Amino acid sequence: MANVTVIGAQWGDEGKGKIVDWLSERADVVARFQGGHNAGHTLVVGDKVYKLSLLPSGIVRGTLSVIGNGVVLDPWHFRDEVAKLKGQGVEITPDNLQIAETCPLILPFHRDLDGLREDASGAGKIGTTRRGIGPAYEDKVGRRAIRVCDLAHLDDLGPQIDRLTAHHDALRAGFGEAPIDRAALIADLTDIAAFILPFVKPVWLTLNKAKSEGKRILFEGAQGTLLDIDHGTYPFVTSSNTVAGTAASGTGLGPSGAGFVLGITKAYTTRVGSGPFPSEQDNDIGQRLGERGHEFGTVTGRKRRCGWFDAVLVRQSVAVSGVTGIALTKLDVLDGFAELKICTGYRIGDRSFDYLPAHAQDQARAEPIYESIGGWSETTAGARSWADLPAQAIKYIRRIEELIGCPVTLVSTSPERDDTILVRDPFAD
Ligand code: GDP
Ligand code: IMO
Ligand code: MG
Repeated sequence: MANVTVIGAQWGDEGKGKIVDWLSERADVVARFQGGHNAGHTLVVGDKVYKLSLLPSGIVRGTLSVIGNGVVLDPWHFRDEVAKLKGQGVEITPDNLQIAETCPLILPFHRDLDGLREDASGAGKIGTTRRGIGPAYEDKVGRRAIRVCDLAHLDDLGPQIDRLTAHHDALRAGFGEAPIDRAALIADLTDIAAFILPFVKPVWLTLNKAKSEGKRILFEGAQGTLLDIDHGTYPFVTSSNTVAGTAASGTGLGPSGAGFVLGITKAYTTRVGSGPFPSEQDNDIGQRLGERGHEFGTVTGRKRRCGWFDAVLVRQSVAVSGVTGIALTKLDVLDGFAELKICTGYRIGDRSFDYLPAHAQDQARAEPIYESIGGWSETTAGARSWADLPAQAIKYIRRIEELIGCPVTLVSTSPERDDTILVRDPFAD
């Protein structure tokens, strides 16, 4: 099976975009399978920087790119992102980009509700991207969503819109907000339908055909395993399953299609938004990691929280996502640290744990247990072969492999596409 599924093994922003772009040179199709435009994937190619939120990163190379049914799609954002990338010289047509017919739509009142809830939550807020992701998934599961295929049947949409607006108007009234303007909503949907419909295809069929023709499919996960709605640090998570298994349900290819599961893993840890973060360094060390790693959110511009590598969490992600190998990114950010720490367990009260317990209060109280390892003074930035790495950096990588129980497949040493060390070819497995 020559397919590769890329997922984040931490709290997102591990460098998935860079790795997907690098791998997409040898892929025939790149597929997004969950999340929406809450993602922010950065690609650096020479002096050009591309930031993608909804479109699969493969589109930058012109590889056939598909948005699977597991994605929630804001059609107006889609139009804007297509325009932005076209402005950067990326060719985007219905020949190289497809949208699944069954994607639920993110509508303007989903974004409103996301913001209203966050504003009302005070210190307990999740710190969402405020893009309506959670409310759109709620409507999907509540069986009242408007989906992409409905855009071709706007005349029949009346009863669906009634159900949806009745639900949302009650919620909006609770926040003192005016009811949804039904006529404006229908006018907006009618306007955007003409732009979206040419891209709409039975994506499950495209992928199954590609599979039967022996083509290589590259699945591009968004967010990270610790933000998974089931396996993450609930309730401080996103509203989709981010684990590798979702590549199957989120596209309609079936579980045997996932292939090599590549867990993208930062050489330290970051998190944007609220929630537990045992190895967080809210001090000079975190400051230095943030500055060296330019840790600011791609979507919201928020400063990312930074801390030491947490081997317990990545080991857990490797297990729940079934990771075959990891891509260790941003190793260069650790250049020049005299000492590095790795979290190897937690103490919660008088008990110790080699995994993160499920309850939010336990997670908040978890005290990290660290081991120390000497750093390196040489630079790894831009290294493209194993031989370019200092001995101490190799020792750090080997120790991570041991602690997480999973081999390193790729190492990334700068934002630039080609500053990547291939240890083992994931497509060759
Ligand atoms: P994603 O959401 O997982 O795609 O990651 P983001 O794009 O949100 O954040 C990763 C950031 O790190 C981006 O600005 C990348 O350009 C950058 N990046 C990726 N790999 C490396 C690396 O190996 N070294 C450094 N210094 N930066 C990297
Ligand atoms: P990529 O794909 C990092 C976080 C938000 C918030 C929580 C819920 O770039 O790695 P949501 O808007 O999804 O309801 O927010 O999830 N979050 C991300 N953090 N990277 C992402 O995507 C994220 N997408 C959502 O900050 O804590
Ligand atoms: Mg990101």
